[in-house]
Order: sequence, then C-alpha cells, then structure tokens
Amino acid sequence: MNTVETIQPVIQSAIQLAPATILLSEYRPPAFFITQTDLHFELDPLATLVTAQLQLQRNHEHSEKDLVLQGEQLELLSVSLNGALLQPPQYQLASGSLRIVDAPDEFVLIIKTRIQPANNTALEGLYISGGNFCTQCEAEGFRRITYYLDRPDVLSRFTVEIHADQQQYPVLLSNGNRMASGQNGAKHWVRWQDPFPKPAYLFALVAGDLQSVNDTFVTRSQRTVSLQIFVQAHNVDKCAHAMASLKRAMAWDEQRCQLEYDLDIYMIVAVDDFNMGAMENKGLNIFNSKFVLAKAETATDSDFEHIEGVIGHEYFHNWSGNRVTCRDWFQLSLKEGLTVFRDQEFSADVGSRAIKRIDDVRMLRTAQFAEDAGPMAHPIRPESYIEINNFYTVTVYEKGAEVIRMQHTLLGEAGFQKGLALYFQRHDGQAVTCDDFVSAMETANNIDLTQFKRWYSQAGTPSLMVSDHYDAAQKTYTLYMQQHCAVTPGQIDKQAFVIPVALGLLSETGVELLPTQIVSLAEAAQTFVYTNISEKPIPSLLRNFSAPVKLQYAYTDAQLEILAQYDTDSFNRFEAMQRLSEKTINQLLALAQQAQDLQVPENYSNLLNSILNETKTDPALIAEMISLPSERYLMEQHSIIPLDDLLAVRKKLQRVIGKRLYSALREKYDEMASADYHVDGISIARRRLRNVCLNYLVATERQDAIELCLLQYRHANNMTDQLAALALLANVDGVMRFDILDDFYAQWQHDGLVLDKWFAVQATAQLPDTLMRVKALMANPTFSLSNPNKVRALIGAFCMNNPAGFHAKDGSAYVFLADILWQLEEKNPQVAARIVSAFNAWRRFDEGRQILMREQLERLLNKPGLSRDVYEIVSRALLPVPSSVI
Ligand code: TRP
Ligand code: ZN
Repeated sequence: MNTVETIQPVIQSAIQLAPATILLSEYRPPAFFITQTDLHFELDPLATLVTAQLQLQRNHEHSEKDLVLQGEQLELLSVSLNGALLQPPQYQLASGSLRIVDAPDEFVLIIKTRIQPANNTALEGLYISGGNFCTQCEAEGFRRITYYLDRPDVLSRFTVEIHADQQQYPVLLSNGNRMASGQNGAKHWVRWQDPFPKPAYLFALVAGDLQSVNDTFVTRSQRTVSLQIFVQAHNVDKCAHAMASLKRAMAWDEQRCQLEYDLDIYMIVAVDDFNMGAMENKGLNIFNSKFVLAKAETATDSDFEHIEGVIGHEYFHNWSGNRVTCRDWFQLSLKEGLTVFRDQEFSADVGSRAIKRIDDVRMLRTAQFAEDAGPMAHPIRPESYIEINNFYTVTVYEKGAEVIRMQHTLLGEAGFQKGLALYFQRHDGQAVTCDDFVSAMETANNIDLTQFKRWYSQAGTPSLMVSDHYDAAQKTYTLYMQQHCAVTPGQIDKQAFVIPVALGLLSETGVELLPTQIVSLAEAAQTFVYTNISEKPIPSLLRNFSAPVKLQYAYTDAQLEILAQYDTDSFNRFEAMQRLSEKTINQLLALAQQAQDLQVPENYSNLLNSILNETKTDPALIAEMISLPSERYLMEQHSIIPLDDLLAVRKKLQRVIGKRLYSALREKYDEMASADYHVDGISIARRRLRNVCLNYLVATERQDAIELCLLQYRHANNMTDQLAALALLANVDGVMRFDILDDFYAQWQHDGLVLDKWFAVQATAQLPDTLMRVKALMANPTFSLSNPNKVRALIGAFCMNNPAGFHAKDGSAYVFLADILWQLEEKNPQVAARIVSAFNAWRRFDEGRQILMREQLERLLNKPGLSRDVYEIVSRALLPVPSSVI
C-alpha cells in the first residue's frame, strides 16, 4: 500500500486558480462560419502587421448572438465591420477573446493586429527559427496570429499575401498555389491561394533565405506534381532520402489506399526549432529538420527509417486529416491513430514488416502501457482536457493506431479498404468524429461495431488471461480466455472489450498444427474448443500482437524455447525470446533479493547461441531476438519497481551472455561486416546485428572488446557504426571516454543534429558522474533551452532514458529537473510539459524516492503563474489514485 497520501491540501490550494477544463460533453457547433479568409502579412521580427479579412455567416442552428473570436498574445490595432470602424462597446476585448456584440447574419470583418515573432519562445503561431519566419498552428496556434474561430470545425477558403524584405526573405511560402508576386522598393510580395477549405490549424507561412531541392511526381491520373524541399543552403546535400521517401509515400497511397494527391505542388520546409516532429499543413508541411536531413556520415539507420516514416505520415494526412478533418480536438485520434496506422503499413510494405511491428510494439509497451498505467491514463478519445497540447500522446497516436489495426484485423484488408473508401466518400471536406469513421467501417462491411467502440472510450490496458486443456482421448484442445482491465483515474467500471486474438498451434517439436486464425473475445470470459488436434499443442497466442493487451499464459521454458525457434509468426518468435529473457531476469532478481549468487541457466544462453547462429533468419530479427528487454520495458512489468536490483541484474546478465558467447559473438561481428556502405534492408539488418554483438562484447569489459569498439569508432564510414561505438565507449569509465567524446565533438561541432546525439549519449551514460556532466553540458555554447531538440537530447534523454541517473537515491536529479522546468515552462510550456512527465510514475518507486519526487511536484504546482500545460500534468500526477490501481 501507499504510505504517501497526505497531499490533499496542496491540491486544494492550487485548485483555487485552476485553469478551466474543456469537456467533450459540452461540444457545440460554431455560432458562425467563416466562408473566406484573406490574410495580409507585413513581416518584421519585432512588429509583424497582420490584416485578416473574414467573410462571416451566422449558423442559424445556434442561439448565441455575439461573435466570439479567440486570440492570444495579440496587439489589436483595429476592427471594422462591413467597412465601418468599431469602437468599444461594439466590441469587447478580454484575455483570450474578442467579442463582436450583436453581430449581423452575414458580414465582412477586417481585423488588424501586431505580433512579435522574434519574442515567440513557445514556438506556437508565427515565430522565428534560424532567422526565418515559420508557423505552427496545430492545435491552437492560429489565435496567436489573428483573432479567429480557432477550432477545427470551422473550414474556410484562404488567400495569403506576404510582404517582406527581398534580401533577407527571398522565399515567401504559404498553402496552395502561388498566384501572383511583385516588387515594392526593398520589399517583395507573393500571393497564395488554397482552393481547399481548411481549418486554421492547417494554415502555414514560411519566409526566409532557403534553397530548394526539386523533383516531380506523376500521379496515376497523369498529373505532374512539383515537389520541393526547402532547407538552409548548407543542407541541400541532405535531402535526397526525404525526397525519395516522399515519392514512395505518394505511390504507396495510390496503390494500397487508392488515394491521389490533389494539388499541383507539395512543399516541405525543414526548421531547427520545432516542438514536435512535423506538421501536415495543406500543401506546405513544416518539419523538424531532424526528420528531413540525412546522409550516411550524419544520420543513423534509425534516422533514415524515422525520416521515411514521418515524411509518409505527414503526406498521408493530406487525406486522413486534411481532406477529412476532426470536428473537435477530442477526436484527435480520428486523424492521428489512422495516419499512424497508415504510416506503419507504408513502412512495413516498403521495408521489413516483422521488424517494423517489433519496433512499434516495443514502443507501445514501454511508453503507452506506462501512460495507461499512470496518472495521465486517458481513452484514445479523451473526455476532458485543460491544455490540448498535452493530449498529443502515445495513447492517442500509438494506441489509436492499434485500435485502427484491430478493425483491419477483424475486417481483413479488402473489408477495411472498402470502409476507408466509404469514409472518404462520405466525409470529404467535412470535420467529423471517431464515430463517423467506425460507422463507415460498419456500413461498408455490414457489421455492428458498437461493442468494439469501447476501445475509444475506456482507458487502461486490458489483461488477457489464457489457460488451456488438452484431452488426449477426445483429441480436443480447449482455450479458456478471460479479460480484465484495471481501474484508471476517473474510470472505475470497465466493460468487456472486443479483443481479436490471432493464434496458431505448434506441436511440442515445433511443427505447426494449426495455422493463424483470428478468434474474437467479446465477453469477460470465453472458451474456444479445437477438435481433431492429434497431440498436445503449444499455443502461439496474440500473433503479430493482434491487440494492445497484456497476455498472461503460464508458458514453460520448454514451450518458449520451441516457439522462439519454430513459430511461423516472426513477432511471436521474438516475443517468446523476450519472455524467456524476462523469466531469466526475474529468477536472477529473486536471487539478488536474497543476496544469493546469480546463476544464469545454460539452457538460456545455449538458445541465444543457436539463434545467433541461425543462417536463414533475417539478421535484424536475430538482433531483436537476442537483445535483452529494455530497462523501461522491465520496469513496466512491476507495479512497485525494484529499480536498483533490476538494473543491476540486467547489466549482470548482459555481461554473462557476453562472456559465455564471446567467440560466437566475435565471429558474427566479423561476418556482419560490409566493405561498403548502403542504406537498404539487408545492410541495415547486418549493421543492427553487428552492433548488438559489439554491445555484448563490450559488456564483458575485456580489453580486446574495448579495442575492437575503438577501432569501429575510428574507421566507421557511417553514423550508425560511429554512434554505436561512441555510445558504448561513453560508458567505459576512465579518461579514454573523454578523449573520444572530445574527438566526436571536434568532428561534428558544426552540425546541430549530430551534436544532439553527442548530448544524448552522454546523458544516458550509466556512470556515477552523469548528472554532473549533464549540468556541465548545459554550458556548452551549442546548447540552448530555447531549442526543443537540444532540451530533449540532453535533459529529456537523461530524465526519460537513464533510470539509474534520474532516480539517483539522493534525489539530486529530481531537484535538477524541477530547477530546469522552472525556467523552461515560462519559455516553452509545451516542451516543459513533456519532460515533467518523467515524474508521472513516482508512486511506483520505493518510499524514499516517492517522497523526493513528490516534493518536486509540489514545488512546481505551487509556482506562481504556472503554465496550464505543466499545471495539468503535475496536478494529475499528485491526485490520489483509485485504490485498486496500485
Ligand atoms: N499533427 C502533427 C502530426 O502528427 C503533430 C504536431 C506537430 C503538433 N506540431 C505540433 C501537435 C504542435 C501539437 C502541437 O504530424
Ligand atoms: Zn499526425
């Protein structure tokens, strides 16, 4: 039980000033529509003038008489209605809104405002990055540009005219087609028109000194689309992979989903200061440069994969997001879950399906299951929020994608595509709900998904408990399945989910007795009987991870060994091996807790050895199978985390494996070497396996292994190998690591994205001086609290991916994080709120650590003027939990 339960008074005092909660149940259609939006910008870093001419029309289904527009951080210069200047009380200015009193049914409003992009550190609205203007409007950033009905169900046609200094800002971009341009002294201007009505969150503007890399794509109806990627001049040599990925994504959407691009031009701009990964603005995507720029020397294989995935993701949004958008932000998963599913399938189709699935599930089970088990647990369609930016979560995105995937599993590819086609046919040009999506799936497939929709409204990860019985006389095999979902904050009663379980049966010698089939569990408990099963089978359950649940089945080691070697489902081969590793770690953990000697079973290391030496298996799958579950994954398996023992045991196991398999690992390391460098599936797979081997070799701390690693660092002709070696060397105590880190810095100090890796490697080092080093690195001239990538690389990596360092027993790292957040949340609340989540699991640690973390949470909660973003996360973390959660 939890002994730290006396926090009520703290929360009470903060609630006095608590910001408003927005409820799904209070959704109302807009009181007015904006049929046309004409924007005019006079760009200036400290005083940009924005003129918005809005064509408004009353929504007669609504009773509100006034027009209430949203606006933040704006200096209002004038408002006119049908050409007549308004004065208070004809309009009323309040914090966050502009009210036009007694507005007519149809009218033209002209609003002039002044804004300061150079002082915009929140990176929402119009801001400056690297000397260039850019925008980020999702979710509610447009209201920092002008007063507007800043909500996704108000769709408007836009024209945009941009005026700026020609020398400093030669490139002027906005959504849609370039219609006209001109000169005006030292200034020039360009006018853009977007033919598709869109909500304001999809608006974008870019102005700066940029070069473009150009290409074309011919659509299946033979239209030629011009493709342009805009970057700073020194980065034009790093755009080829992003461009190739874009063309693959465009072709994939035509082939797999029958969806064709709709404008004659598609632009991507890379910026260094960006709160998230990228943004799907109509015809003008804006990207974090991390997800555009790549070449062999600077980008790792996983960078290449992420770029392809994110380029695809934003491209796919053109249909799932832009042509059909969300009615309100509670429906965010409508576009995000669907688009993540689409980008996952794209990556699976153009690369390795099995490896993509393993990577995605790994992320889901560490980050999303953790979120669902903590104070931020929410359904993929939340019912309330304080700050919508806090709900761009792994739950809405990744679990949202799993919920789409389950529909795909239940309906099959053809049925799913029929439903998707009907969805786009019904709702093109509309702002709709998750119910509308499911309804299209239902109609197209003539099926009732009412119960399935509980996945949209219930939070928490269900457990799926399976047991079985084999009747040799009758030759029948019975599977008993039960489901249970723990209470989550605010949701006590959970009703049964529809859980598609893909399963197969193997014989005890590994022969497949029954190929994959889908059974659908819809009750709390259900029984499935298989007849004519000639021998006692081993069940291969939840193949390809067919549902986002925690599977419990009492597998014996012998059964797992068979599944690991012979399952026809690659995901379950991996899964069996992970379970064996986890069992081994748990055995060692029990021994450690009794202060006994740690003996690693020979069976286990022998199996690793034989998998390592499989010759017909994809090296990437071997690499996944022989890797130990991550620290975060292991931590996730305990309701109270035995942190110190767990980390120690994992490390110890790594070393034992390295020692026992040393020569096999060393041989495989050489076998996986390649004379020259390529970025294709097989080359990436070989590098992956090679670096997993190196990891085990170095874990032995043998001098020859460390020298091998040094050699790899020095001779690497690509960032994957260089960084893998660097990360290992940064963990070897002694002066040598400083020489290598200095060497890397000297080589890459001109490249911010590579330096992010240098920061992250040091922040995740498992050495006693890491916190001290992190603090010192904040003084590095290239570090800045204003750049989200740098904050995530150094501080985010330390707090999220270095449990040993962040959870130092004396609480020093907790104080460090709270100190940083103190400054950061004033600059950039969105990024601060991400990082403060490092405290979310505080109740799952030992009492000493709980007290220390709670102290910092309370300190933050009581900070005068705390941002809504951080307030929401911290106050939820401190709320008492329903007792059955822990
Ligand atoms: N819609 C974007 C995506 O998924 C997400 C995004 C980009 C975002 N920037 C943001 C969300 C800023 C909130 C705030 O691709
Ligand atoms: Zn998205």
